[in-house]
Parts: sequence; structure tokens; C-alpha cells
Amino acid sequence: MQSPDAVGMTHRTSPSMPVVRFREPADACKRVAAEIASLIRQRAAESRRCVLGLATGSTPIRVYRELIRMHREERLSFFNVVTFNLDEYYPIKPESAQSYHRFMSEHFFNHIDIIRSNVHLPKGTVELENVSGYCRDYEELILRSGGIDLQLLGIGRTGHVGFNEPGAKRDSRTRLVRLDTVTRNDAVKDFGDLERVPLLAITMGVETILQARRIRLLAFGEHKARIVQQAIENRISSALPATFLRGHRDVQYLVDYDAAQCLPPSFFGTPLQ
Ligand code: PGA
Repeated sequence: MQSPDAVGMTHRTSPSMPVVRFREPADACKRVAAEIASLIRQRAAESRRCVLGLATGSTPIRVYRELIRMHREERLSFFNVVTFNLDEYYPIKPESAQSYHRFMSEHFFNHIDIIRSNVHLPKGTVELENVSGYCRDYEELILRSGGIDLQLLGIGRTGHVGFNEPGAKRDSRTRLVRLDTVTRNDAVKDFGDLERVPLLAITMGVETILQARRIRLLAFGEHKARIVQQAIENRISSALPATFLRGHRDVQYLVDYDAAQCLPPSFFGTPLQ
């Protein structure tokens, strides 16, 4: 792995929200992948499982790519890994091109040695009348697996984490939610037109996410700059669900320079180079 100096990393440590800034998204992704790999190996050495909370979207793809590389070239095994994905559109068939089931298989699970029964994503095919019971079971399964060791997150332009859109409560759990218009518009690139973007989704709740032992949120690009700044500096409230992360004991934002551009220059101190 590159040294912090080589990637021009700067680190702001505040009691509520450490932010690490990288020159390139790839460097941040490698950093998170290395942390995940080290956790998996540590657990394997103790004959224990490692429970990962996973995210979809364009942001974490390079994390998965790096983990696949480590599997192929560095014998990283996922044999002891259990995964829970944050969310899935509703309704949607797993084989549909836009489903998160398909995304995860194509970008990650098809390329590693994970045991398929250890992979969990909310199902977009559950009958509507069974959804609330299904969501309770999803929560129960996370608890029975020992809880999430590390939760990977992106952030949407609404400030959502998972599909916890503005209005989501701090104590929310896995449930059926309505997608924000901004989020649906952002999904047009995948679905082709707005009419085809589902109105609903099943998502882990804010509380579900906050129960993870570590949280690593990635944000890259200019289009994330404003929401990153607000998530870090605004008052903690349901109006911007990502603000709730600030109450967590082991949370870190990993951002590139573009996504960090609305944070005050003093925020990062002197770059390490
Ligand atoms: P993105 O989505 O990675 O495609 O930007 C992030 C999110 O909505 O959480």
C-alpha cells in the first residue's frame, strides 16, 4: 500500500467526525480495502467470522475491485465472511439489470470464494404484506451473525446513507421507504427514464447502521462536495440523515479533494508531503 505521503493524505481528527482526504479516489478505496482485508485475516486467525455491511453505487466499486485483486494475488479468502447489504429497490427482481443483487454478484461475489449462504441483501420480491416481518427478520439475522464489524457507506446528494432519505429517524430500523425525488433522478442513469425508477426501496435503518462497530463512508467528486460539507457541519437532524453518523464512536469519512472542496481550508491543516 502507498504511504500517506505518497497519496497526499491529510487527516482531520475531531471528536465527532474524522475526515481523511486523498488525492485520488483509488487511494481511498485501497485504504478501505486494506482495512477490510486486515479485519478478515485477523478474524480468520481467531477462527471467527467477519461481518461486513456493504454498499452499492459507483463509489465502492473500486473497493470491491481491490478486494478481488487481493483474493487473486494475495490469497485473501472470504470463507469466514458474512455480508449484509444496505438496501435494494422495491419491487425489483434479483436478475433485473438494475437490482443491487445483480450489482453485487457482478462487481464482487462472483469473483471471490464467499459462501453464498453467507450473503444477505434485502429482497425486492417479498410480498407487500410480508415486508415488515421480512425487515424484522433481516435485523434479527444481523444480530444473530454477531452484528456488523465494518459498514461501508456512500452518501447520496440528499444526505442519505443507505436509502435513509431526509426525514429518516435516528432510531429507524430496516424498513420499506419512499425514495427522494433527487435520488430517483440520480438513478435515471441506470434505469433509462424516471418512470422506470422504483418509488420504493427496502433499507437498513439509521440505527441499524449506527450499530456497526466501524463505519467507513466514501465520497468522491465535486457533486458530493456540498453534501459532505453539510453532513459534517450542519446540526445533527433527520433533515440530513448522514449527520447522525457523528454520534458514532468509530466513524471515518474518506474523501477525495473534489468532495472535500467545500470544507474550509483550515479543516485539513498542512498536507503531508
Ligand atoms: P453513488 O451513490 O456511489 O452512485 O454516488 C451513493 C449513494 O447514493 O449512497
